[in-house]
Amino acid sequence: MFSRTLVNAVALAAFTLRAAAQYQDMPPAMGPWFDINTQGVAGDYGEANTGVNAADEIAGWYDLADVWRTAQKVLEPSVWGRVAGGSGHEESMRWNSKIFEYVTFRPRIGRDLANATLDTSITLKNGAGVETVFTASSPIFFAPSGSHGRVNPDVAENGTVRAAATAGVIAGIAQYATVPIASLGSIKSENQTLWYQIYPGEFDRDAVLEQVSVAKNAGYTALMVTVDTASEGWQSRDWRAGGDTPSGNAQDNKLTWDDLAWLKDVQDLPVIPKGIQSVEDAVIARDMGFAAIYLSNHGGRQLDGAPAPLQVLLEINKYAPGLSDEIPILVDGGVYSAQHALKLIALGSKLVGLGRPVQFSLTMGQEGVEKMIKNLNDDMLVEMRQIGVSNPSQLNPKYVNTQRAAGFIYDGDLQ
Ligand SMILES: Cc1cc2nc3c(=O)[nH]c(=O)nc-3n(C[C@H](O)[C@H](O)[C@H](O)COP(=O)(O)O)c2cc1C
Ligand SMILES: *[C@@H]1O[C@H](CO)[C@@H](O)[C@H](O)[C@H]1NC(C)=O
Ligand SMILES: *[C@@H]1O[C@H](CO)[C@@H](O)[C@H](O)[C@H]1NC(C)=O
Ligand SMILES: *[C@@H]1O[C@H](CO)[C@@H](O)[C@H](O)[C@H]1NC(C)=O
Repeated sequence: MFSRTLVNAVALAAFTLRAAAQYQDMPPAMGPWFDINTQGVAGDYGEANTGVNAADEIAGWYDLADVWRTAQKVLEPSVWGRVAGGSGHEESMRWNSKIFEYVTFRPRIGRDLANATLDTSITLKNGAGVETVFTASSPIFFAPSGSHGRVNPDVAENGTVRAAATAGVIAGIAQYATVPIASLGSIKSENQTLWYQIYPGEFDRDAVLEQVSVAKNAGYTALMVTVDTASEGWQSRDWRAGGDTPSGNAQDNKLTWDDLAWLKDVQDLPVIPKGIQSVEDAVIARDMGFAAIYLSNHGGRQLDGAPAPLQVLLEINKYAPGLSDEIPILVDGGVYSAQHALKLIALGSKLVGLGRPVQFSLTMGQEGVEKMIKNLNDDMLVEMRQIGVSNPSQLNPKYVNTQRAAGFIYDGDLQ
């Protein structure tokens, strides 16, 4: 009896050592982006300069940790610092992803999932109440992020837009895109959906209207209005790496709900406030008749210490249950795997956005972005079947156990 236990113990120890050796080269579970000391490795941008062959590199991408490693390898430190970094000590940036570990699925079996698809549709209304239905091949969308030309000057946003067309996903295009938004409109495919992101607080109203009219004429079909930049984020990593120096810039600190209401009503594209971070503001946005609510802390690049978007979803479900049936909710921030997206969808998100994953995969061009989104979509299909549903829209809060995250929900009086 004793010797048998000993044999088992020895066998187990040997197995453990073998397994440890096998996995020692793997990155930490959450990937290199959580290493606050990472300053990027020196290197010039570009396949030519780094000796990186894009096709070979892309062939080795299985998940976003691979994409991050490629980006860190090829980007100049200042660009790496700008994109990889967040604000402050990057607590919100890390928390955005970390919180998913506190939520687990409640999978069901015994269902016919042969026809599972990620097909998604979302209905947005404009200020006059006129509804438009948008369809996409996946609930994943590209969050608007600036300056794609800095991660890939060869293709910049042209690569992003074309990859979104191939994938059939909705793409947000930033006011600070490298390529003029009208040019991007001219390369978009017929049935592709592009939404325009604007910082209206940076301009007077005439200039805002001028921009909106350029976007509309170029084929953009909704406006994402960023509302979480009352002041420019304190982005130490970016600055340390040689990015724009701290300006203390009060980016758009005069932007009010009145301005947002004006923009909603003065033109006919649907308006989506981007950067809502409390149930109170979500309720105001619904009551004022905006097209959707976009929960985001800007990828942890604005207020450090901001709640993770998943936390805000839980807060909404507690204090304003049913809100996600009344107005579509979009979410982004730290969504770095298929399961992250599915958890947000189960909790009421209609579309789930990617910021850094798009920028970092674009280092390997349009094909890089296509591979990144394909991996994520294929993985989502796999996980969705394992959860037991055949479309993301069938998910609801009963498919997730959020008990361990309950302590993160605000429990005081509402403001
Ligand atoms: C390099 C970079 C630039 C960004 N620029 C903008 C911008 O110009 N306007 C905006 O609304 N959001 C911007 N964002 C925020 C994204 O829209 C999005 O909220 C965020 O990246 C989501 O988090 P993730 O990067 O973890 O996916 C930017 C994000 C990054 C990483
Ligand atoms: C799947 O699609 C096939 C072909 O259209 C159809 O015959 C079948 O009934 C579908 N199964 C389910 C579960 O919807
Ligand atoms: C992007 O496409 C536009 C429109 O075709 C073109 O004018 C521009 O040069 C392209 N930019 C890059 C960086 O490829
Ligand atoms: C766009 O149209 C093509 C051809 O009809 C189709 O294959 C593709 O799925 C469509 N894309 C979207 C996003 O609807």
